[in-house]
Amino acid sequence: MQMIRRTLLSTCVAAMAAASAGAVLGQTKEVKVGYALAVNSHYGAAAQAWADAVEKGTNGAYKFKQFPASALGGERELIEGLQLGTVEAAIVSTGAISNFVPDVGVVDIPFLFRDTQHARAVLDGAFGQELLAKFSKRGLVALAWGEQGFRHLSNNKHAVNGVADLKGLKIRVTENPVHITAFRTLGASPTPMSWPEVIGALQQGTIDGQENPISVLASAKLWQVQKHLTLTAHVYAPMALLVSPSFWGSLNDSQKAAFTQGAKSGAIASRVFVDTVEKKGVEEAKSHGMQVVEKVDQAAFRTALEPAYKEYAKKFGQKTLDTIANAK
Ligand code: PAF
Repeated sequence: MQMIRRTLLSTCVAAMAAASAGAVLGQTKEVKVGYALAVNSHYGAAAQAWADAVEKGTNGAYKFKQFPASALGGERELIEGLQLGTVEAAIVSTGAISNFVPDVGVVDIPFLFRDTQHARAVLDGAFGQELLAKFSKRGLVALAWGEQGFRHLSNNKHAVNGVADLKGLKIRVTENPVHITAFRTLGASPTPMSWPEVIGALQQGTIDGQENPISVLASAKLWQVQKHLTLTAHVYAPMALLVSPSFWGSLNDSQKAAFTQGAKSGAIASRVFVDTVEKKGVEEAKSHGMQVVEKVDQAAFRTALEPAYKEYAKKFGQKTLDTIANAK
């Protein structure tokens, strides 16, 4: 009897270990990678490039299994899964990361980056790489910065031509203190919500709008649930390619190099995807009947955000904000 119990126990322990540290398929180990959007999105492009590079770089020792469309839960659950070691890899937006690595919140400050090139240079440079290193203190391993694009505003109530039109609009924001402060300061009613709930909430009218880059708008076909789009470009949205520390600890140096190099390839693939989708996404939204306001007075938005900038300077330090702003 004791023998049977012991055998059962060791079978369970072996199964749990396989589930948490990457299942072993013959000689190949499976790497679960989760993300919020569909396979044919910038997330899917990043995951596929990462997977291909790792498979090649480890001579087939590791194979990715993709879990798109929040199949493993929202971004918060994914990050918790990495910390617990139940998920090996994930690609997540900074919308969710700030609650785990608060210093990352600095990149979520509205109108911080002048344009895409500025954002990429900062994230690929010393500042962005130091930020990636900070994840380890929070039980996460961050390998590269991918990209979603600049976030824009959509809603079902009316065209937003300027700051005044935001008054009272119930806008879903990520569960991110920097985003929440920004929309509250602009006079909207920010409603933090996990992404998997957003489409239903827009359909039911419990929120009026949301804000996300064109890459997300196109992937989620937001024109099906939103009438108005304003190209506010109010904040740049990176995404991070992460692995679980327990999984990372199981790799040797050359495998770690393959995962890191692969993550960089994934980040590049997301940027290439975003460059393409940004060119045609707005036209697609229009062709599906969305009313698009193509330009807003960004200086007026910045002025309205002055009280928020004071809060951000207190939180992250004016010197840090200046370092980013002055980067070429
Ligand atoms: O708005 C968000 O929560 C994120 O941008 C999303 C859509 C999950 C993509 O990472």
